[in-house]
Amino acid sequence: MGIQISPSILSADFANLAAECQSVAGHADWLHVDVMDNHFVPNLTIGLPVVESLLKAVDTPVDCHLMIEDPDRWAPGYAEAGAGSVTFHVEAATAPIKLARDLRRHGARAGLGLRPATPVEPYADLLPEFDMLLIMTVEPGFGGQKFLDVVVPKIRRARQIIGDADVWLQVDGGVDTRTIELCADAGADVFVAGSAVFGAENAADAVDRLRTLAGSAQS
Ligand code: DX5
Ligand code: ZN
Repeated sequence: MGIQISPSILSADFANLAAECQSVAGHADWLHVDVMDNHFVPNLTIGLPVVESLLKAVDTPVDCHLMIEDPDRWAPGYAEAGAGSVTFHVEAATAPIKLARDLRRHGARAGLGLRPATPVEPYADLLPEFDMLLIMTVEPGFGGQKFLDVVVPKIRRARQIIGDADVWLQVDGGVDTRTIELCADAGADVFVAGSAVFGAENAADAVDRLRTLAGSAQS
């Protein structure tokens, strides 16, 4: 799998969500949907009803990033609704292996999310249960934050741990035309970008530009 770009709709206009999503259709590989519950993170966004509507309105596959407590209870519903990928945070999950298997059984790719300070090494043995590892490059909760350069060595170690396994390595938070090169060089292959896409004058052009930069920086 080559480079994939997953624009985060957190930076889009929520009152015009379908049109905003259409603006990157044919350019974005995924639409990244940030679900926040005001408990796991200090912010509240959208939940399953909006995701269900979005799935009817767009053709681009949906990449749900659940920043919520008790994903064991809530995450399978997103897979059942038809999200192509569902990522939950290991810090919040009680039984991550069971949950990953539930997500896959419902036809979704299963993603394991790590906050910036959560080490990757303890989860190396779990990776065969997952299709994607998400390394947060900001503290989850808000768009438009500054990229945490201190996380880059973890991306590199994660790439080594993944090796040749078929597990995508996603980065999320502060990804822009500068930092995407750092992440690609460290071994990431799926890039979430919110403000760098929906804050740009032309969102589709921004996606294309990020893809080109990541491709040339990929090690
Ligand atoms: C933050 C979210 C991100 C956010 C990224 O908690 O998980 O997906 O939308 O936004 P930018 O790219 O603006 O940092
Ligand atoms: Zn996200």
